[in-house]
Amino acid sequence: MTQPIKLIIDTDPGIDDTMAIFYAAGAPDIDLIGLTSIFGNVTTDQATRNALRLLEWAGLHKVPVAQGAAKPRALPAFPPSHNVHGDEGFGTIAAATPQGKMSDESAAAFLVRMAREHKGELVICPIGPLTNIAEALDLDPEFANNVSRIVLMGGSLEEGGNISPHAEANIYHDPHAAERVFASGAKIVMVGLDVTHRILCTAEDFDRLEENAPRLGGLINEMSRFYLHFYTTVGKHDGCSLHDPAAVIACTHPHLFETRAVPIAVSCLGETSGATLLSNDTRASTDVLMRVDAEAVKRQFFKVMNTLD
Ligand code: RIB
Ligand code: CA
Repeated sequence: MTQPIKLIIDTDPGIDDTMAIFYAAGAPDIDLIGLTSIFGNVTTDQATRNALRLLEWAGLHKVPVAQGAAKPRALPAFPPSHNVHGDEGFGTIAAATPQGKMSDESAAAFLVRMAREHKGELVICPIGPLTNIAEALDLDPEFANNVSRIVLMGGSLEEGGNISPHAEANIYHDPHAAERVFASGAKIVMVGLDVTHRILCTAEDFDRLEENAPRLGGLINEMSRFYLHFYTTVGKHDGCSLHDPAAVIACTHPHLFETRAVPIAVSCLGETSGATLLSNDTRASTDVLMRVDAEAVKRQFFKVMNTLD
């Protein structure tokens, strides 16, 4: 096998974030070298606690967690998405204090240092708002060149939004940060609603996962009930989207997706705020995933998840 990729996940855990992090913990082709926390589904403090708990559940006690920004770059903070992910971010699973401690470094400083130490090799996978990534770009003019690529869950080109008619939630929560990241010149892969809305999982899928991987699969199964219920409240009865796991899988299995290379701009104003749009500025192009072999992504997801515990 080729060497596993070195990966940092920037995350707001979050039920689908949990799935993505457990996937990364079990995937033999991923070397998870850290998590950075960000607000979104929960507050940043909660995201840090949740990230530590997820690593402890997964037995990855040595993987560091660096705490990220507490609020968006220019907008006031949004309330957490308790209706989608539950009060603590884990559906109905109760709060608990993690044993581990977060790192002394900020998320942005950790990202910059890791990108320097693993120059040309580090893949960053942001699955929450892009505030920490924008801060890392500000901190180090070489950051965009030092990373191998940024494979982000967010945005939508043709699919419309999920938090507003125009915007996907991660971009909506900090459009100014997203604008900074898309214009940075880093190699960027956008894993947006154009593909994640095609990858759906049902309660039966998660029941089967629990049978195969009782401990971590059982946790996912319990969390997924809350997540699936939210989907029914917005009229979606055929399953929940594997948003964040799709981004992690796109890091190692790009052949399961079809890509369009286009420059992306972000609306930061008015009712379209958070929309990802085609830009006239051709200096920075993004690989936008437009089509997916959804069955193959699901197969890959459960193949790894079934090996957990
Ligand atoms: O729009 C989907 C994204 O918003 C996912 O990252 C989910 O976890 C939420 O943060
Ligand atoms: Ca997320």
